Amino acid sequence: MSHGPSAPAHAHGHGGEAAPYVPVFTEGSARRRELDDLISRYPSRRAALLPALWMVQQDRGWISEDAMREVGEQLDCTAAYVKGVVTFYTMYHQHPVGRHFIQVCTTSPCLCAGADDVVKAFLEHTGCKELGLTSPDGKYTVIEVECLGACGFATPVQINEDYVECVTPEKVPGLLAALGD
Ligand code: FES
Repeated sequence: MSHGPSAPAHAHGHGGEAAPYVPVFTEGSARRRELDDLISRYPSRRAALLPALWMVQQDRGWISEDAMREVGEQLDCTAAYVKGVVTFYTMYHQHPVGRHFIQVCTTSPCLCAGADDVVKAFLEHTGCKELGLTSPDGKYTVIEVECLGACGFATPVQINEDYVECVTPEKVPGLLAALGD
């Protein structure tokens, strides 16, 4: 899980944080109760870090520096520690992404089977200018990732939490249409 996407640091899309940061785990909120319940099941507060980050991402679409600070305060660890975890796992987004986050395996076996053409088809049909950049309508972000563990079913693509195997360029328009908004 340590493989990194090729998302450039300047990637941008919907949901930027120009407005003042609004905490996720406000006192008395459902998310705070959920987090407190989780923490009660772990030996230390920081042990709840991964699910806490997941909650942030579910609610906000990505994990900002402000959110990292908030999570750190909630779990008694530094923002730097939280950032170290966020940057390790590709499943956490450090910048806003499209509503449909598309990850295409381009490791050697899939490359040999045509993964490059699948990437090109996704970029062309989503309107994303390049890998890691969100489409102008805010719907899509496409990135390359290392082995998705489905090497016998090239080219595998992960779209949000779903896996799709044996994707070819010809299948891309249909796949995107099935995603809806
Ligand atoms: S190399 Fe593509 S899934 Fe393993």
